[in-house]
Amino acid sequence: MTNNVTRRDWLIGGSALAGTMLVSKMAAAQTVPAANLNPTPENPIRAGFNENVYGHSLKAKKVMVKAAETAHLYDFFSQRVLNKVISEMENLPGDHIAIENGSTPFLEKAAYACAIKQGKVLTTNPTYSSVPGTAKQLGLEVIAVPVGEDMGVDLDTMRAAMTDDVKLVYLCNPNNPIPSIIEKNALRDFCIEMSKRALVLIDEAYYEYVDNPDFASMKDLVTDNPNIIICRTASKIHGFAGVRIGFAFAHPDTLRLITGPFNLSLNNVAVAGAIESYQDMEYQNFIKQKNRESMDILENMFEELGLRYIKSNSNFAFFHAGRPSTEVAEALKKRGILSGRPFPPFTDWVRMSTVKPEEMQYVVDVYKQLFA
Ligand SMILES: Cc1ncc(COP(=O)(O)O)c(C=O)c1O
Repeated sequence: MTNNVTRRDWLIGGSALAGTMLVSKMAAAQTVPAANLNPTPENPIRAGFNENVYGHSLKAKKVMVKAAETAHLYDFFSQRVLNKVISEMENLPGDHIAIENGSTPFLEKAAYACAIKQGKVLTTNPTYSSVPGTAKQLGLEVIAVPVGEDMGVDLDTMRAAMTDDVKLVYLCNPNNPIPSIIEKNALRDFCIEMSKRALVLIDEAYYEYVDNPDFASMKDLVTDNPNIIICRTASKIHGFAGVRIGFAFAHPDTLRLITGPFNLSLNNVAVAGAIESYQDMEYQNFIKQKNRESMDILENMFEELGLRYIKSNSNFAFFHAGRPSTEVAEALKKRGILSGRPFPPFTDWVRMSTVKPEEMQYVVDVYKQLFA
């Protein structure tokens, strides 16, 4: 890594600062956490949870520290500002946007709304477990249609599995743990068709990472279709997994199913940070670039070792290790590396999240030592 790149890493989010002296002083104060190249089981490389290991944009961090000073007060104003920022960015009316502590509250409430109607949930398998898991906990039947041969979501089989008792259709795009996308026109047709019979929830948690002409957000459907909800999160590219911000885009009547009459549950620190982070394109581009570098390192290893993998549209890879993922996870953990949990029925596949490129190289070196 060159000095320039190092400095660029340091200054991410702080580029408005001018002058070398000032820059180098600020650099020391604004260093992003160093790469973890001496990981241990106690202080591991976190390649298991699809996080952004760089932390927040420095612009966000700065306002978050300030916002903590007023964290004893209810803050209705900032959430309106964040709503406006997202509304302009996404070209959606403000009353079609709800904000929560991450997207999980929306996912869970959608399952609750389905339970009130005593409906079933239609989804795919594998996928992110919040909606199907909550639904099962509530005693609902979950129709989980297996992914196809290509490991993509099988929309035709889902259509065939649709019944009148299904009240919620849930899909992640990109999916998780399989980082594939659903082709935009096919998904649009599917959403419109299914929304005539049930609420359709499209979870776009990894939206910002996608760089694929076949992908499109389904957000524009919500303005004239009250049966479609889109969820987004700041937990991924924005690094808000701990501090929590998420969004639902839907018709105001639909948002009432998954929100309260007013929102006291947000924390002002997260809201203040999100206002900055969503406008900090330099930071987001930096994270995307680092994600690409790390993904190249991982995918090169899959090619080299001849391991089947699904081309990633996200910040994690899914590959056929050809041995139980639990065995891989245990061996890596002993070497200070966390990888994803098992995803039945793909129990000999492993989900690996990107980390900093230098950490990713370390992960790859260890993987090869253990399993090549
Ligand atoms: C597809 C998907 N949706 C939602 C979430 C949870 O997001 P949040 O942190 O916003 O609750 C995750 C987390 O990994 C995810 O993979």
